Amino acid sequence: MNRRLAFCVLAETLFLLPATITPAQQAARPAELTIQVDHPVSSVSPTLYGLMTEEINHSYDGGLYAEMVQNRTFRADWSGIRDWFLVERGQADAKMDIETTTGPSTSLPHSLRLDVTQADAGSPTGVLNSGYWGMALRPNTTYQGTFYAKEDSPQVGPVTVSLVANQSGETIASAAVSGIGTAWQQYHFTLKTGEVEPSAANHLELTVAHPGTLWLNLVSLFPPTYHNRPNGNRPDLMEMLAAMHPAFLRFPGGNYLEGDNIRDRFDWKKTIGPLVDRPGHPSPWDYMSTDGMGLLEFLEWCEDLHMQPVLAVYAGYSLNGEHVNPGPDLDPYVQSALEEIEYVTGGADTEWGAKRAADGHPKPFQLTYVEIGNEDFFDRSGSYDGRYAQFYHAIKAKYPDLQLIATAPVKSVRPDVIDEHYYVRATEFFHDARHYDKTDRNGPKIFVGEWATREGTPTPNFGAALGDAAWMTGLERNSDIVIMASYAPLFVNINPLAMQWTPDLIGYDALHSYGSPSYYAQVMFASHLGKETPASILEGAGARFFYSVTEDRAAKRVYLKLVNASSEPQTLDIHFSGAHLAAQARVTTLAAHDTQATNTIDHPDAIVPVESTLAVSGDNLHYDVPGYAIQVLQFELR
Ligand code: AHR
Repeated sequence: MNRRLAFCVLAETLFLLPATITPAQQAARPAELTIQVDHPVSSVSPTLYGLMTEEINHSYDGGLYAEMVQNRTFRADWSGIRDWFLVERGQADAKMDIETTTGPSTSLPHSLRLDVTQADAGSPTGVLNSGYWGMALRPNTTYQGTFYAKEDSPQVGPVTVSLVANQSGETIASAAVSGIGTAWQQYHFTLKTGEVEPSAANHLELTVAHPGTLWLNLVSLFPPTYHNRPNGNRPDLMEMLAAMHPAFLRFPGGNYLEGDNIRDRFDWKKTIGPLVDRPGHPSPWDYMSTDGMGLLEFLEWCEDLHMQPVLAVYAGYSLNGEHVNPGPDLDPYVQSALEEIEYVTGGADTEWGAKRAADGHPKPFQLTYVEIGNEDFFDRSGSYDGRYAQFYHAIKAKYPDLQLIATAPVKSVRPDVIDEHYYVRATEFFHDARHYDKTDRNGPKIFVGEWATREGTPTPNFGAALGDAAWMTGLERNSDIVIMASYAPLFVNINPLAMQWTPDLIGYDALHSYGSPSYYAQVMFASHLGKETPASILEGAGARFFYSVTEDRAAKRVYLKLVNASSEPQTLDIHFSGAHLAAQARVTTLAAHDTQATNTIDHPDAIVPVESTLAVSGDNLHYDVPGYAIQVLQFELR
């Protein structure tokens, strides 16, 4: 039995002893927490906290990916050309339709056709786009746009591009694009706002003032992005992610990797290169993905936030049950995964590394983990064992240092890492917070690749944050074996038409964003993580009280996380041994009066971490943890 397990057993034994006292006696007596600072029992994984992401709830399109035009490639359904509407001012007369025989590329072989029978300067006509439930405009801000167009004669243009306020009809910014030719070509424009109030109640118009026919496709508009990346991400959401100190990004899914059917999988080669060469594809979450957030954009997102990529490769199983048999049928998918890894890691002298360089990123990315599929325990055909083994042998032969993650139990080879998922209520996490305490330390490492307390909507409430925090104490205590963990889903556009799953960690609309109590719990846990777990014992605490302690002895610091999921305070006598405490500790508290309390887009700061200090005298503390509270106590060592 290793030292850590021996200590757990001892702790449990001691924990059981006071069970003979009555609840009233227990409430009156402080619990005893003893921490042996000079006695580390296990290491803490430096990659413990990371992000899991996929296209769900408009996470990218209408979310992190800053594109403002919805349906920029004019896809139509039974309702018409979604998100696009005809503009006919004054005496103008026109109609719009989808033209299936002409488009700017083989990936986008269709277009919007605008037939103008009557228009002039006082009666312009064209199309408008309503954005992702609005278009966020801020004062004195420059927006960069592009579109592909052609016309039947050079007289139809110029095309006037305008940002218009929905309520007043006022033009907020405008630009004229002239010289539209009779062959497909890309045009650029810039729109600059003045002293406007920040608002999302705006739309984009493209109009002309002469009769004739105009074809359009890939109409795009971007605000300033994080690190000013072209085709980049929303700064507010990136900053919220940066505050989580994520060590990794698991992408591209989730179900989004698999697709409903094999043809709908995340086919990475169709997500790279110029946008005009990306056809887009259906996400399993009932909407089309533009694939503007493609493989390279995921990697650049990692680069921007100093995260390592955890690359999930399609492994021959899709959600509706289609699968590819191991053997020759699977070879093309294995080959595609090898090429994908080369695109990520290869030098510019390799075929796919050269493609990445041509796409604008000559420097290879560091890659340690590759995940083979997603939730393959749903595959009732029993093919995962063989599929995993085939990927495993091919990838290890070429990339022996890569760590390969399995998504379901496998017998024929030993996976390096197993991905496990938990979507539960808070009570279950309270009962299961010791889940990994007895996990075999000689087995594969564990990646808790998706987990969440499912309470609250659209984002988790404080009760969920308590469940999450209780669960995280167990992840931290066992992070010698649990090497990575990521909450899911990460994002939700809170417009009801945008959401497929609830709850989600971070909510937003076109203009605003906010963190849920669970988000703040994650920020607190990930920002206060030591390198080792010291020996500790808790005796006599309530059943819904949880803790984790980690330390960084080089930095002379101990982080104590306390989770009181009871409505009543918990009194603690804390004893430190093996080191002496400095006279002041820092306390970060996330607390609420009720489990149903939460943050919303209109009240984003109802529950946020509050900082305070704690006077420390000697190495023992008598300390009250408030009811319904998550706290981090940061002790400095003398
Ligand atoms: O996170 C939402 C979904 O839950 C993921 O796409 C899937 O992997 C899991 O079933």
